Amino acid sequence: MRNLFRLNLRQPLQKYLPQVSKHRFAIASPLLGDPNVLAWSNLGFWRNTLDDQNISDYQRACAQLAQQVGLAAGLQTSDVVLDLGCGQGASLAYWAKQFGIQHLSALEIQPACIARIQAAHLPQLDGIYQAPFDQLPLPDHRLNHAFDAVVCVDAAYHAQLADFLAVNMAALKPQGRMAFTTLVKSSRWPQAGWLYQHLTLKLLNMAYVPAQNLQPQHEIIATLQQAGCIDIQLQVLDQEVFSGFAKYIQQLEAPKHLAWAAKTDWLKIKLTAQLCHFLAQHGLIHYMLVSARLA
Ligand SMILES: C[S@@+](CC[C@H](N)C(=O)[O-])C[C@H]1O[C@@H](n2cnc3c(N)ncnc32)[C@H](O)[C@@H]1O
Repeated sequence: MRNLFRLNLRQPLQKYLPQVSKHRFAIASPLLGDPNVLAWSNLGFWRNTLDDQNISDYQRACAQLAQQVGLAAGLQTSDVVLDLGCGQGASLAYWAKQFGIQHLSALEIQPACIARIQAAHLPQLDGIYQAPFDQLPLPDHRLNHAFDAVVCVDAAYHAQLADFLAVNMAALKPQGRMAFTTLVKSSRWPQAGWLYQHLTLKLLNMAYVPAQNLQPQHEIIATLQQAGCIDIQLQVLDQEVFSGFAKYIQQLEAPKHLAWAAKTDWLKIKLTAQLCHFLAQHGLIHYMLVSARLA
């Protein structure tokens, strides 16, 4: 954490990394513990829900976070599903395998992720679009009101909720379901001192979560209600996600003989883990699972 304070917190993290051609959202999944082509790149859910034991395997933890989202969305085999911010596509294979989904589409902003997913030729994938999940119109008119469920694992905090919801609403059929994880201001936020508030916002801004994307829980509920959602459920996952990821990365040994670009990838991972530790410790921001249904 100490090193972070030497940085100018007004600047995104990328400013401090050497110029490489990577997208700002690119995550080096092999360094995290997933070398697969369709790799995970989320923060993980580090508690086994069956036996309550901690998980120490990155791919399992990521799959567990997706499972929480899939269960919250009530995914059923007959559902036509849209995945927002699917990253390198591990979640797409997961929905097909674990929930038996036969018809999937996805939006993702990174061209490199789109190329990987296209190369994998997933039989259940009807369409993969390089498109933002917070801007209308949808990239193909056939996506309008075409989905029973929209899911988003560990990505929605990169967007303003109202914009993200507008995309969900446009994609969902009537009575469609949505589930996503995001970051939410906790009830301790208003009482926190200016310094902690300011520091938290600056650190999150460096991780591409600008202040305007963070709302308190009651505003999230109000925004969902205004958008026409019912059956709204919110669940705090701070321990399982923030603390779990921070502990996992803390005990990973720094890989040896890394090229310069990979060293910056490793630094980004370490800083993300320190941010998670900071958020878990101070409790001003929750990691939250949100689900709802259209009326
Ligand atoms: C932390 S990763 C999670 C990836 C994947 N869901 C997973 O569980 O492995 C967040 C993803 O959201 C994508 N993303 C961020 N902002 C986006 C936007 N506005 N539109 C589409 N994708 C976005 C990033 O490119 C990245 O792949």
